[in-house]
Amino acid sequence: MNFINTIFTNFLQFLPKWFVKPFAKPYVAGIKTEEVLKTVKDLNDQGFSATIDILGEFVNNKEEARTVKDQYSQIIRAIKEKGLDSTISVKLTHMGLDLDFTFCKNLMNELCQEAKICDVGITIDMENSPYTSNIYKIYKSAAEKFEKVGAVMQAYLHRSIDDLKSLNNSNLILRICKGIYNEDPSIAIKNKKEINKNFKLLVQTILDGDGYACIATHDIKLINEIDEWISDKNISKDRFEFQVLYGVPMAKTLNSLKSKEYKITVYVPFGSSWYDYSIRRLKENPKIISYVLKNIFKK
Ligand code: FDA
Repeated sequence: MNFINTIFTNFLQFLPKWFVKPFAKPYVAGIKTEEVLKTVKDLNDQGFSATIDILGEFVNNKEEARTVKDQYSQIIRAIKEKGLDSTISVKLTHMGLDLDFTFCKNLMNELCQEAKICDVGITIDMENSPYTSNIYKIYKSAAEKFEKVGAVMQAYLHRSIDDLKSLNNSNLILRICKGIYNEDPSIAIKNKKEINKNFKLLVQTILDGDGYACIATHDIKLINEIDEWISDKNISKDRFEFQVLYGVPMAKTLNSLKSKEYKITVYVPFGSSWYDYSIRRLKENPKIISYVLKNIFKK
């Protein structure tokens, strides 16, 4: 199936946007800010929290990076003004990490100051491995000034458990996910069972300490195993939440988690870069093609 996915993905990039749109549409909450805010309001009305992501990564110059930061600032203010239950999620290469580390760090600090005034949380997404160390450095610096900033940790990376130990502080907020990039076997676990084992270890390490764990996965078996561990350990509900990507059909599991009064956050991406972003992600992880097709036929 992987081979067919790869051929299909390579073929996809030569097709017009109107053809690719059905593949991206279920996962992207529109192009304009008003559209994403409306989606967040609908999610809130259904009892979900949200986190808003402006699609994109790797800007060409500092002006572009600043424009992205300004767009996030506008979203932060709108979240406050409209009383929405939402945080934001940012990719640091979208704010110039690839161009200039210090510039990006300063921009992130500015964003944190604005988020602090509006009391809106921020999570820093994790990107591919050349950026891991610098992303954690910026996260650490931001977390010293703003208590509602978190980062993402990828369970497929061998280094993650050491990173977790070195990050451990009293207001640690970490979103644990499996990891989406195609990393080299020398640094990343490739076996699904082993990734899941590490995922659980990371979540348990956070919760055995003082941190807050965002459990970001659609793997129902993994969710159930973690839920069982949490119940056995009697972990307080204000120490963790479950998180899913917008558009991934998870209704049954989410309803069951909701019935236990767990917090559930939906990650909602939007923006004009949906096409480039979708193609890049599909190329990176052709498995998504089979998820999308499976979901289309499930409906
Ligand atoms: P797995 O890949 O085993 O999928 C389990 C099942 O979920 C599949 O069988 C399928 O049915 C369904 N599914 C999963 N993904 C789907 C999709 N895209 N479309 C349709 N169905 C899908 N990664 C990263 O490297 N850096 C990051 O910052 C983030 N941030 C992030 C935030 C949040 C809230 C989530 C949920 C995920 C991320 N990820 C991420 C992505 C993550 O690393 C991982 O690639 C995906 O979540 C898929 O892995 P699962 O844990 O869902 O398991």
